[in-house]
Amino acid sequence: MYQFQVNGTYHQVLDDQRLIDYLRDTLGLRGTKEGCSGGACGTCTILIDGKKSKACVVTLSQLDGKKVTTIEGLSEREKSVYTYAFGECGAVQCGFCIPGMIISAKALIDENPNPTSADIKKAIMGNICRCTGYVKIEQGIALAAQMLRDNIPVPAADYTAAVGTPLHRIDVEDKVLGTGLYSDDFKVDGMVYAKAIRSKYPRARVDRIDINKALAHPQCITVLTACDVPFNKTGHLTPDWDVFIKEGHVTRYVGDAIALAVVKEKKYLDEVCNLIDVEYTELKPLLTPEEAMAPDAPLLHESGNILSYQ
Ligand code: FES
Ligand code: FES
Repeated sequence: MYQFQVNGTYHQVLDDQRLIDYLRDTLGLRGTKEGCSGGACGTCTILIDGKKSKACVVTLSQLDGKKVTTIEGLSEREKSVYTYAFGECGAVQCGFCIPGMIISAKALIDENPNPTSADIKKAIMGNICRCTGYVKIEQGIALAAQMLRDNIPVPAADYTAAVGTPLHRIDVEDKVLGTGLYSDDFKVDGMVYAKAIRSKYPRARVDRIDINKALAHPQCITVLTACDVPFNKTGHLTPDWDVFIKEGHVTRYVGDAIALAVVKEKKYLDEVCNLIDVEYTELKPLLTPEEAMAPDAPLLHESGNILSYQ
């Protein structure tokens, strides 16, 4: 049995599992968002005994006797200061990374109430913002530090629109505190769960995809591959992106999807995914624009390696 605290409440748990699943699915603490699931993006950042950590890679068996703090565990004062500071600085866009950013900010400010710009940059180095709002996030953290340090009262947010006057987003509180709903936060009756198998290599030919063992698993509903997608190309500027990489085709990065497993219960996702056999021939990746523009560079896209000429 594992015993630990989450936001000041004691928990005793028999079975081991990822902390993020326990927080989100068992405790309903959905402010901790899951991005990469592999410890790389910082979206799921939480505190363990005051030190920041990634809830997607920590398991309950590692928590015995420890104290976990999630975004929901911030004090009311911290919640209102971060909401105001991030709103005032325009630091929130889609908001998916923001609870993790704020936990990193809290870890910093708890230790160092007067951080420099360099301190803040270092503190959020492990937090990736997909909307790339780092400058404003840094400003938001600096303002929050000042407000907490100097005990500045939180002004009422002004939602009066005027040309040239910055406004706080109306959803800033939901996005700062993680109460905003994203696709992974919805639960509906009869919901099924899916997970993509992604390329093992940045550039490799997919020689064979065998889904038969996965399909035979009692929890598996289906496994989708490129053969199941009527329009396999997508993209904003030009349709140059594959939904799935087909057998015989070449991957462009480790994020390329090869197959999608769909299961009845979430806890079987990895088990079913591990039954999908993919054989690759690894190829040398192109790692810089210069390599991709070289006359003898392999084509990443049929139309060439340059999207447009000015
Ligand atoms: S979801 Fe945990 S680090 Fe990305
Ligand atoms: S605000 Fe969108 S990921 Fe950071």
